[in-house]
Amino acid sequence: MAGYIEPDLVERISKMRRQPGARLSNSYFTRAVQTAESQETYEFNGSRTLTLFQPLRNRKECHDCHGEDHKVRGVVRISLGLDELDAELRTARNRQAGVALLTILGVSAALIAFMRRVLLRPLGRVIIAAQQIARVTLMLASTLRIRMRSAGWAR
Ligand code: HEC
Repeated sequence: MAGYIEPDLVERISKMRRQPGARLSNSYFTRAVQTAESQETYEFNGSRTLTLFQPLRNRKECHDCHGEDHKVRGVVRISLGLDELDAELRTARNRQAGVALLTILGVSAALIAFMRRVLLRPLGRVIIAAQQIARVTLMLASTLRIRMRSAGWAR
């Protein structure tokens, strides 16, 4: 049976104190009651807080014990401090930035070393060889000129 409450429980409940609390003027609370939709808001009072207002709808199952007079029977308010989460996000972001920087530096260094080995060093050797060839050519040319001159073929 859905709407059955044991008599001694009814008695205990009826003995409970029911002082109405302070009236809430929170606009999110009001909207949650009016729309029966959950509302959430970020508050910045020194630290960042996420607050959720979750309305408890007055469903058919509730009518056995509660009336049908209201769409919403209550609102659960849950607040979550986001400072710790924000700090964790910050450290994670910093760590990622550090890893990215190290990766860039590492890749650059590897690229430079690779270019040196594959391009610059062989190029240097080519330059030295070219200079040697030029020197030998000059030497041969001057030797040839001296020989031609001494043979009377050239002045
Ligand atoms: C078996 C009976 C029963 C059913 C079904 C039931 N309730 Fe209740 N509910 C109670 C009793 C008893 C109280 C305490 C009332 C009091 O303190 O006077 C209570 C209290 C509440 C309160 C606290 C505020 C208030 O109105 O006193 C809320 C909110 C509430 N119920 C919501 C619901 C919702 C939503 C449902 C349906 C999903 C539901 N109840 C179904 C018996 C029931």
